[in-house]
Amino acid sequence: MRLDKLLTVTATATRSEAARAVRTGTVLVNGRAVKSASVQVDPERDAVVYCGTKVEYRAHHYLILNKPEGYVSATEDGREKTVLELLPQKYTTLGLFPCGRLDKSTVGLMLLTDDGELAHRLLSPRRHVTKRYLFRVKFPLNEGECAQFREGLVLEDGYETKPAGIELFSDMKSGIITLVEGKYHQIKRMMQALHNQITHLERISFGPLTLPEDLPRGAWRELTGEEEQSLLDAAKTV
Ligand code: URA
Repeated sequence: MRLDKLLTVTATATRSEAARAVRTGTVLVNGRAVKSASVQVDPERDAVVYCGTKVEYRAHHYLILNKPEGYVSATEDGREKTVLELLPQKYTTLGLFPCGRLDKSTVGLMLLTDDGELAHRLLSPRRHVTKRYLFRVKFPLNEGECAQFREGLVLEDGYETKPAGIELFSDMKSGIITLVEGKYHQIKRMMQALHNQITHLERISFGPLTLPEDLPRGAWRELTGEEEQSLLDAAKTV
């Protein structure tokens, strides 16, 4: 594989950043500064160091994003800002896409990946990956309504939801919802079925991943090795 290709597929640098770094002698292959970004390297065997950092070859990328309000869960949109626009340029050529959707107004944990097979497995209705959301509604909820929510509700289009979890905080207007499915606007429509209205929705977990407390809204990072493994395991077993 060409050196500049390795640097772009690992999201180490854009092609022009790679060329610039080579010119300044800051890209080492097996301890030696290379003279051309087009040299061939073996990603599994050669030790490549870019500006002092070892380049780890990986077949896929897994990013966790704390989605802010106002962004749509798409790779492209003619009118709206997409979650992909929150990433630096070196990530834009990798073919990343959101694994599952959050509404434009929903905030919180979003997984971005270029691993189509993993996404397919995690999103398959058969697998029931659990998702947890912090919510707030307009009107207080009572125990009867929570019981209906837990049993499953009939939405306005006749769809019968699977049993869901709901834990209410003491204000009776906020709490945590747990879903094992992901229909369009599901939580909003479940609350509508109870003649209520969501005023705030934040996803705090997706399968084994939890929204990190130190990841501000709008920020993202690559998954740690442990998080990545937990996700791959979840896709295998669920
Ligand atoms: N349910 C919704 O209504 N919206 C979301 O974004 C996620 C779940």
